[in-house]
Amino acid sequence: MKDVLKLRDVSFSYRDYSVPPVRKMVLEHLDLTLPEGSKTLLLAPPDNGKSTLSRLLCGMVPKYLEGDLSGSCLLDGVEVTSREPWDLVESCVLVGQNPQEQLLMTTCEDELAFPLESLGMPAERMIRVVRNSLWKWKLMDFATISPQEMSGGERKRLLLAFLDTVPAPIWILDEPFDDLDSQWRETLMQRITDHFGTVLVLASRYIDEFRGSFDRYGILANGAVTLGDEQDIVIEYEQLCDREYTSVESCTEEHCGRILACSGVSLVHPRKSVKDNTPFTLEVPAFTLRSEEIVSLVGPNGSGKSTFSRVLCGLDPPREGEFLLDNQAVARRDLSRTVGYLFQNPDYEIFLPSVREELAWSLRGDRSRTAQQKAALVAECAQLFHLELDATPSTMSYGKRKQLQAAVHYLLDRPFYILDELDSGITYATAFEMISLLRSRGAGILLITHDRSFSDRLSQRTYTISNGTIHELEGQV
Ligand SMILES: Nc1ncnc2c1ncn2[C@@H]1O[C@H](COP(=O)(O)OP(=O)(O)OP(=O)(O)O)[C@@H](O)[C@H]1O
Ligand SMILES: [Mg+2]
Repeated sequence: MKDVLKLRDVSFSYRDYSVPPVRKMVLEHLDLTLPEGSKTLLLAPPDNGKSTLSRLLCGMVPKYLEGDLSGSCLLDGVEVTSREPWDLVESCVLVGQNPQEQLLMTTCEDELAFPLESLGMPAERMIRVVRNSLWKWKLMDFATISPQEMSGGERKRLLLAFLDTVPAPIWILDEPFDDLDSQWRETLMQRITDHFGTVLVLASRYIDEFRGSFDRYGILANGAVTLGDEQDIVIEYEQLCDREYTSVESCTEEHCGRILACSGVSLVHPRKSVKDNTPFTLEVPAFTLRSEEIVSLVGPNGSGKSTFSRVLCGLDPPREGEFLLDNQAVARRDLSRTVGYLFQNPDYEIFLPSVREELAWSLRGDRSRTAQQKAALVAECAQLFHLELDATPSTMSYGKRKQLQAAVHYLLDRPFYILDELDSGITYATAFEMISLLRSRGAGILLITHDRSFSDRLSQRTYTISNGTIHELEGQV
């Protein structure tokens, strides 16, 4: 069997924008070969170069994200760096971790047609191919809708639909299971198994769900790849990530005894990108969250979890419904100062050039502290969340950006937090640590996740959502 991809002694570091620049190696003397038709799972803790390796294999670094690259990366015997993007499209398709980074058109069908237009595919055939992949990924109803008006999981499915549009034999999938509900995770795994070509999956979680489904296993850590027997790799990876459940601190003081509730809430969410579309309707008969509590909200992709979050944190106005804080009616403006919403995609709330500035922003309205005290608090917070103050958020890994997002909220110090898929792109240990910190002053937490084992370990009560209607699960402790 020939090797379709061959990396030899590859080292890479991104161009650093901090002053003075700090050169941090992301990949270091990395060797990896992918035999034709092989299915490889590379496990990697966050911030260990998964996205960088996948971008390198598809020719995106160092061409579009600058950096220093050495060593050799051969795709079908030719250096990837010497090939043009339109030429690589036919060999290799990348499904990135963050759909937001890859989607750029105003409708789903245009999005899928974009690479085919670059290939010069005749229009009639292109329409057939696009429809077929929309159908396969249950996206027919979204054909003329803007990807910006879809849920996180629906957007991920749109990215995955490229696997059926672009006729590339090599699939590079970076955290492809994140954002997907369990049914779609299973469907994706089946598609990987059925693919005749070569597949490389880079992942940090859902290992137990997909053990036995790949024919090669490895770890990407400290810039290099180690391949090995499945059992050994999984054990080594678990040791590396310390998946042990570290206790999540309960309420200490500040925000104890508070209660947030809503009842009779409804919202109709029409899409602006299309005229004729049945709008999504959210119905919440009753919901409560107390300080000290961790309550989870679970449900399939597109069921309305993020929509509810936006209403509960005061971002979107409901059509009707009552919101109570400590048993008193609360205005939408006050809700937004009470409920911190950690968006599903951290990029929606990270926008300043350095970690230091991003964290300082949270304290800008605090008149009780001096500038010196604020700087000390920012430095302490960065340490708690394992962040470097001078790092540039836009070039930090997805998992690191999630840590920064949590740190920003930690400084905002809200009595309630909604964590919308906080666990994607980070390890259990990091997620537990972040939740401990966020609730260390007694905040109540609403946890939204597609990982039931994660929510079952943490939450005291569970709400389920299906087709926009929320109900509390009966018979809970
Ligand atoms: N900006 C928007 N405008 C109109 N409709 C939207 C918008 N964003 C999402 N929707 C639609 O609202 C419905 C609920 O989406 P929501 O994002 O709340 O789901 P979710 O439960 O968070 O899903 P996921 O698990 O995929 O994150 C879906 O049908 C989605 O397509
Ligand atoms: Mg969502």
